[in-house]
Amino acid sequence: MKMILILAILITKRGVESADWSVTFENPNPCALKGSSVEFRCSYDYPVGETVKSTAWFKGEIQHGIWQRTLLSTLSSYEGRVEYLGDQQHNCSLAIYGLQDNDNGYYYFRFDTQTYGRHSKRSVYLSVSELKARVHPDSVKAGESVTLTCGTSCQLNGMVWFKDGQPAAKAEFQARIEDAGKYSCAVEGQELMRSDPVALDVQYPPVNVSVEVSRVGRLSESSSVNLTCSSAANPAANSYTWYWRSAAPSSRSLQPVGSGSYTWYWRSAAPSSRSLQPVGSGSVLSLSSVEASHSGLYLCQASNPLGENNSTELLLELEVKLWEADRLMLCIGIGAKVIVVLVLSLVLVWFWKRRCTPDAEKEECSHDYENIRIKN
Ligand SMILES: *[C@@H]1O[C@H](CO)[C@@H](O)[C@H](O)[C@H]1NC(C)=O
Ligand SMILES: *[C@@H]1O[C@H](CO)[C@@H](O)[C@H](O)[C@H]1NC(C)=O
Ligand SMILES: *[C@@H]1O[C@H](CO)[C@@H](O)[C@H](O)[C@H]1NC(C)=O
Ligand SMILES: *[C@@H]1O[C@H](CO)[C@@H](O)[C@H](O)[C@H]1NC(C)=O
Repeated sequence: MKMILILAILITKRGVESADWSVTFENPNPCALKGSSVEFRCSYDYPVGETVKSTAWFKGEIQHGIWQRTLLSTLSSYEGRVEYLGDQQHNCSLAIYGLQDNDNGYYYFRFDTQTYGRHSKRSVYLSVSELKARVHPDSVKAGESVTLTCGTSCQLNGMVWFKDGQPAAKAEFQARIEDAGKYSCAVEGQELMRSDPVALDVQYPPVNVSVEVSRVGRLSESSSVNLTCSSAANPAANSYTWYWRSAAPSSRSLQPVGSGSYTWYWRSAAPSSRSLQPVGSGSVLSLSSVEASHSGLYLCQASNPLGENNSTELLLELEVKLWEADRLMLCIGIGAKVIVVLVLSLVLVWFWKRRCTPDAEKEECSHDYENIRIKN
């Protein structure tokens, strides 16, 4: 009988209290990203006359098969990551920083007054989510369309994208060569919390095909030269073909490039009508002993499974004739100078002789002459 009475009193007491004693969560189901922080906004109420003695947050966990509420401050995994933002009046907000996967779960608030201690009946359920970036499809040919999606179990708005760490404009686009890279997503306003990056591979046939010559300067007969073909391609170019055609004299007009007793003409090696002939394969074309017949225009064709592309034509010339012409020019130049000097000296000598004839007997003449001799 006594037991029933106590129980009845307890029941009535509880019933009365429910109205006055309350804990309210602004968002009972928060969802936050792993690594970010979360704030449980919380307020609590109690009858006038009560004085709050202590407050605490708990985590609901199953331990040894029993559902238990464990004081957050005693859980080592939360050490240094929780902060009570509330007070001992009506604010019971809590912040958790650096969210981890196992922070998922139920959280309870408890406050004690001089007469009563109570847990919140309701709890906060925290979901910790991760951003998962996806690229569909993750390997495309240049020009094909790509869609980026950012998956998370949270309801989050305003996704932003990064490509190789730099903001990227769109989540849907036609892939260009330069769009290849690593993409990650983030929630607007939390740009530092990024998903793991995912790669987009853009395949394309060779571009920027170019030929490099192993030696600069004039090619003399029987010297050796390597032509190296390079290109940008994805996958890398796996086959090369070298073409050659003679740089036949063209119909282009001759251009005067110098004058004097002779006029020098220059004519560009214009494309001839002669067709290209394949002359080799592999990325390097080695011409081990260059001869006149090697002169001409070379181009390299690089291919990968997606296609092919050509380099511009490279003119290879055995500039023997030009070299001889230069030597001739040089000889003429030197010859002309020698002649000028000789003529000048003769004129001077003749002039001198005219001034200082033996019968003139001018002092200055012999004097100067002697002085010069002495100096010498
Ligand atoms: C081709 O060359 C241009 C100009 O140098 C350069 O901007 C571009 O990135 C190159 N393309 C590739 C795929 O390397
Ligand atoms: C060949 O390469 C150039 C740039 O090097 C590019 O503009 C052109 O589209 C390419 N052609 C083909 C057929 O891929
Ligand atoms: C050309 O390449 C070959 C090997 O590929 C090398 O042995 C040779 O020295 C090179 N010749 C020149 C002129 O660079
Ligand atoms: C490259 O040159 C070869 C040989 O003349 C030609 O057949 C081919 O069409 C050219 N390719 C391109 C992309 O210009």
